[in-house]
Amino acid sequence: MEKKGELKLAYTILVVLLVVGIGAYVAFPQRAPEQPVRILFQNIGGKVLFDHKQHFSSDGYGYGCKDCHHDIDKDDERPSACSECHLNEPGDAPKRSDALHKQCIECHKDSGSGPVDCSQCHVR
Ligand code: HEC
Ligand code: HEC
Ligand code: HEC
Ligand code: HEC
Repeated sequence: MEKKGELKLAYTILVVLLVVGIGAYVAFPQRAPEQPVRILFQNIGGKVLFDHKQHFSSDGYGYGCKDCHHDIDKDDERPSACSECHLNEPGDAPKRSDALHKQCIECHKDSGSGPVDCSQCHVR
């Protein structure tokens, strides 16, 4: 009789823990997409340090995710790496380095700030 009671108590505790666990999971869902802070591009033109966070944070330059990640429609979607589509050789999408050069430099020109010369981005 006592054994049965203990077993019932154990089951009750298990159920309570499960419910609490699920509750916590629902209340604290995974945060919206993680965002790298800085990205170091290593390439034959010389290293390029890209301050990713500075470009999108509101106390930085304040751009939206989709200003650069054109594969997403909303800022809370998780974007794919450019290199998922922009390969080292041109294909359906322009070559990776051409796409990056175009996006980075055009925006710097349009906004009238940000580096446009090779050596301002590439460090040897
Ligand atoms: C000024 C342009 C720009 C802005 C704004 C921007 N990103 Fe990025 N992001 C990039 C570039 C460039 C990369 C490097 C991608 C690569 O190496 O293929 C990148 C990489 C990433 C990656 C890593 C992708 C991978 O799988 O390697 C994630 C995740 C990401 N960004 C999320 C975000 C989110 C979320 C926001 C908005 C809060 C955002 N980005 C804003 C340009 C930008
Ligand atoms: C899901 C695939 C995909 C991803 C991810 C992607 N692109 Fe693209 N991108 C394309 C395709 C396809 C084109 C060509 C057709 C078009 O303009 O939509 C393109 C076009 C471009 C262009 C215009 C090129 C031109 O000559 O007009 C730029 C710039 C660009 N991408 C930059 C980026 C950058 C930077 C990233 C990462 C932050 C990125 N793309 C991520 C598929 C992708
Ligand atoms: C949508 C617009 C936009 C895009 C795309 C963009 N930038 Fe910028 N970037 C800026 C602006 C605006 C500044 C600020 C310049 C200032 O205030 O001095 C800047 C500044 C910089 C600086 C100098 C200051 C710092 O943050 O280190 C570097 C380096 C830089 N960008 C690299 C890049 C690279 C590399 C890419 C492409 C992977 C890129 N940017 C794409 C808008 C952009
Ligand atoms: C706004 C910053 C920026 C400027 C300005 C810039 N680049 Fe780049 N460059 C990049 C980025 C980002 C990449 C892509 C790196 C990667 O894919 O690892 C790149 C890639 C390259 C590559 C490698 C190409 C490949 O196919 O692997 C070469 C070479 C290069 N740049 C030369 C230059 C020259 C020459 C200039 C001046 C005419 C220049 N870059 C201006 C940011 C810049």
